[in-house]
Amino acid sequence: MATVTAHRKILVTSALPYANGSIHLGHLVEYIQTDIWVRFQKMQGHTVHYVCADDTHGTPIMLRAEKEGITPEALIEAVHKEHAADFKAFLVDFDNYHSTNAPENKELAQSIYRTLKANGKIATKIIEQFYDPVKKMFLPDRFIKGECPKCHAKDQYGDSCEVCGATYNPTELINAYSAVSGAAPIRKETEHYFFKLSECDAFLKQWTRSGTLQGEAANKMGEWFASGLNDWDISRDAPYFGFEIPDAPGKYFYVWLDAPIGYMASFKNLCGKLALDFDEYWAKDSQTELYHFIGKDILYFHALFWPATLEFSGHRTPTQIFAHGFLTVNGEKMSKSRGTFITARSYLDHINNPEYLRYYYAAKLNSSMEDIDLSLDDFVARVNSDLVGKYINIASRCAGFIDKYFAGELNVAAIQGLVGGAIASGQIISESFDARNYAKAIRDIMELADRVNGEIAQAAPWVLAKDETKKAELHDICSRAMHGFYVISILLQPVLPALVSRVAREFFAKHDDFVWADLGLIPSRINPYQHLITRIEPKAIAAMTEANKENLTATPQVTAPVTSPVEEVTLSEAEYISIDDFTKVDLRIAKIVNAEHVEGAEKLLKLTLDIGEANPRQVFAGIKSAYDPANLVGRLTVMVANLAPRKMKFGMSEGMVLAASDEKGGPFILSPDVGASLGMRVK
Ligand code: MSP
Ligand code: ZN
Repeated sequence: MATVTAHRKILVTSALPYANGSIHLGHLVEYIQTDIWVRFQKMQGHTVHYVCADDTHGTPIMLRAEKEGITPEALIEAVHKEHAADFKAFLVDFDNYHSTNAPENKELAQSIYRTLKANGKIATKIIEQFYDPVKKMFLPDRFIKGECPKCHAKDQYGDSCEVCGATYNPTELINAYSAVSGAAPIRKETEHYFFKLSECDAFLKQWTRSGTLQGEAANKMGEWFASGLNDWDISRDAPYFGFEIPDAPGKYFYVWLDAPIGYMASFKNLCGKLALDFDEYWAKDSQTELYHFIGKDILYFHALFWPATLEFSGHRTPTQIFAHGFLTVNGEKMSKSRGTFITARSYLDHINNPEYLRYYYAAKLNSSMEDIDLSLDDFVARVNSDLVGKYINIASRCAGFIDKYFAGELNVAAIQGLVGGAIASGQIISESFDARNYAKAIRDIMELADRVNGEIAQAAPWVLAKDETKKAELHDICSRAMHGFYVISILLQPVLPALVSRVAREFFAKHDDFVWADLGLIPSRINPYQHLITRIEPKAIAAMTEANKENLTATPQVTAPVTSPVEEVTLSEAEYISIDDFTKVDLRIAKIVNAEHVEGAEKLLKLTLDIGEANPRQVFAGIKSAYDPANLVGRLTVMVANLAPRKMKFGMSEGMVLAASDEKGGPFILSPDVGASLGMRVK
């Protein structure tokens, strides 16, 4: 090989996704970006460990579990399974996928905290916070709603108005109410624990300017330093789902304290499985490399809090932080009403090939923090033209002739002169992959494909094949072309691992996936052509966006289909819906034929609803606080009949009943006017 780089030991992470929602195409930008880089480094022969985990702690997860009538542990376990399956399906190949709610993390978080405290970096302060007097809990800003002080739009969040865009403090909201109970919040004093970030100023200034950040990120830091670093509030009061702070009863670590420590915990867990040395990677004098891939929205945590936490608890700091931009779809923010808020699962249901998305993202990604756009038309055009029309086309045009006329043998003499060029291209392209400039790598690879296709077109093997005297020429061009196919396959393997793995095994009879050094070898024979991929049909895209429009009305998977005042907390987009959106909701008059308590459920009643279908529907509704089941039997109400059925801890829920509630009370079940009868449609 042309270049020999020293063997490196590299630990790589992607940000830990929250355990209260499904993985969507936005998240996948990051996991695909990281996975490509990891696969590329592994192909170079380096030792790479890629770890991640679910981020499981915090108020939203606690409340989500409560709403579903399950424990937080049950919720995060179910989501862990779903996330792991989604990542596997997209070929994101973590060496370990752990959880922040794990014993390793508790131990590490508590010991890091103790060291920070011993180093004088922890302080306590009494602060005043919003408190929900009914729910008896302190409220994060996100859980306070009210009327916008500027435009008077109702039901706006505590930090900003989605109607007029104003930003303000929760104290400025008019008629503020708790999104949890509906009660008017009060102000209450409580003692909090702080990490004295202000004292880390000198260290952080030096660290952020030492090549650890992208230029744009370092500039952003400059702005933050200019406005002064505040101490970081790392505690939350009970009730909270998280780890208790040592020697501080009733106080828990804020989720963002133990989340990045989750990187270490996941690695520690991997050390147990592979007998690796934890300290070799995390001790202050570590000679290994540590890279965190993150989105630009969480830069503050990774470029300030995290290195300071590591530094002042006696650990090594990250080698580099790689931040990427946000995904837009068709040039706009992902949107539920436009059907572009697409989950990983929904993509697979409609397109069924994760590598198309991996390829498209690769073709768009560079090392900057700019947003990247998934233009759905361009996606179809690009994948069909590059992968089907350029890459696979080489094999589909030439492999058959090698099989038919030359018994699978390639003309090695015709290939020999091409190896130097393959190695040289590999060198240039490897620099692009290493620098996360995948867009350039893909451009260069497709240029190679264009060149090979150009040679094929010029030589026209399908014409040569008809002429007995041209067999040597035919062998020559097809061998050269198949060598090109071999080289391009190796170069694309980080991006298209499943497809190229098939190519390696089925065409080139290899026992393993390719390594980069295979660029220097000469393939001497191939097996007969196997069908490899099909074009994307534009109608699959249309079906996908259509289906995701429906998701606006169906509740996302991990949300329980029960009426509840916290229902809206995670919906961030206040957008109009069209009449078509509305008519997708199948509202029916239902008769409650049975209602009963559910053993072990705090909030739910089990309702049996007749809407005139052959079988009555079973629905779990969060109305136990307001209704005695006996009083419900026989009454009519309104239900959503086409809500996706959902498996809950207590059984299937096959719809949702409508009920009203706000700070003044509720829930109040809706009833139709006299004369309505069961089964009628509500329009
Ligand atoms: N739990 C935190 C991270 C803790 S890391 C110690 C979190 N979770 S997240 O689920 O909201 O996001 C996970 C990663 O996905 C983040 O890096 C985030 O930037 C990225 N993305 C989430 N939505 C995204 C887009 N729409 N586009 C690109 N990346 C996005 O933050
Ligand atoms: Zn407003």
